[in-house]
Amino acid sequence: MNIIDIINKKREKQELSKEEIEYAINGYLDGSIKDYQMSSLLMAIAINNMTERETFDLTDVMLNSGDKLDLSSIDGIIVDKHSTGGVGDKVTLVIAPILASLGIKIAKMSGRGLGHTGGTIDKLESIGGFNTNLTIDEFIKQVNEINIAIVSQTGNLVPADKKLYALRDVTGTVESIPLIASSIMSKKLASGSDIIVIDVKVGNGALVKDIESAKKLANLMCKIGENNGKIVICLLTNMNEPLGYAIGNSLEVLESIETLNGNGPQDLLEIVMTICELIISPIKQISVDEARTLIFNTINNGNAYNKFKELVKYQGGNIDDIKISDKHYSIRSNKDGYINHIDTYKLGNICRMIGAGRLELTDKIAYEVGIVLSKKVGDHVNVNDELLKIFINEKQVDINEILDCFDIDTNLIEKEPLIYEIIK
Ligand code: URA
Repeated sequence: MNIIDIINKKREKQELSKEEIEYAINGYLDGSIKDYQMSSLLMAIAINNMTERETFDLTDVMLNSGDKLDLSSIDGIIVDKHSTGGVGDKVTLVIAPILASLGIKIAKMSGRGLGHTGGTIDKLESIGGFNTNLTIDEFIKQVNEINIAIVSQTGNLVPADKKLYALRDVTGTVESIPLIASSIMSKKLASGSDIIVIDVKVGNGALVKDIESAKKLANLMCKIGENNGKIVICLLTNMNEPLGYAIGNSLEVLESIETLNGNGPQDLLEIVMTICELIISPIKQISVDEARTLIFNTINNGNAYNKFKELVKYQGGNIDDIKISDKHYSIRSNKDGYINHIDTYKLGNICRMIGAGRLELTDKIAYEVGIVLSKKVGDHVNVNDELLKIFINEKQVDINEILDCFDIDTNLIEKEPLIYEIIK
């Protein structure tokens, strides 16, 4: 067997055997297969897809590339939540402390930014001192003590995904259903939780652009979960505009704090409420309405935000040390009309270019940069109204490129739903 034959086979749209997948992944991990060869294979997969069987095998090979977490020393039902990636997607930062403040155990392993999308770990690391690299023992101890821990891929868990994820980020191979399904599910299965909720983002700012593909991805992940004895719930949610108003690491943490204090944007709050209800209602065996009341109460009485502060402190962070750039300016509309469309992918990429994400494997994130929208899809603007504020450091932006992200018209187009479907 050799890697060139395997690349050629996938390039010719043929099905790879489990042994070939194993050979490629394990060879990449031990260094005998090089970045450029794996990039080529990933691109062939991104273009030519994989069958369901290949995707199951790829997930299995990745899952078995390292250790699996044994969370049996944590009492109670353990919940994990993951997003397929979006722009301004800060849902985890809000739901995790809400659930933990209600006694639900959150043992969460999160990712860094991928492509034009942000990642929870980069966001948390924008809080001064926040340590996302815990040992497995520290991780378990923390969940037992305060119900919540959010870490990057701990120890030797799914090392294959760690390496592939970073490579995909910089080789244009992020948007692929089998690669996304195997990446997410290998990590979720290795991290040992009982209930896995996956927010499948759909739209021009997501990795998956259309509902049909999102359904395929969701069904595939549910099947992988079922094959491995796990409960997987997928929500298909709208990513045709950024979630909330803030994009960029520190800015998103600040918006999450606002939300935990009861002042969050409507769209973010609706997704947060729906995910929390889906988790709380079966675990506590209460109705969705009762779950909703519990969520409102834990926000209103300050418990959810206090839990977030406890999480930050426990992982070494200083909640008062969240820096945003003091170099910012407004981008204003050059038209009157309704905002009918925001090119969310492009806006996410602009944030990536100014330093909120990576362009190369070794790039350092500029936590303090990003965008805060002043208007969302469906809003009316007049000429000279502020569309957004951009926070930058030394990198420059082209104002016309930002204005191009907004379609403004005299007629208002009906807005799409925020939550399309829930698949179990
Ligand atoms: N999240 C992941 O963990 N992996 C992907 O491929 C996409 C989103």
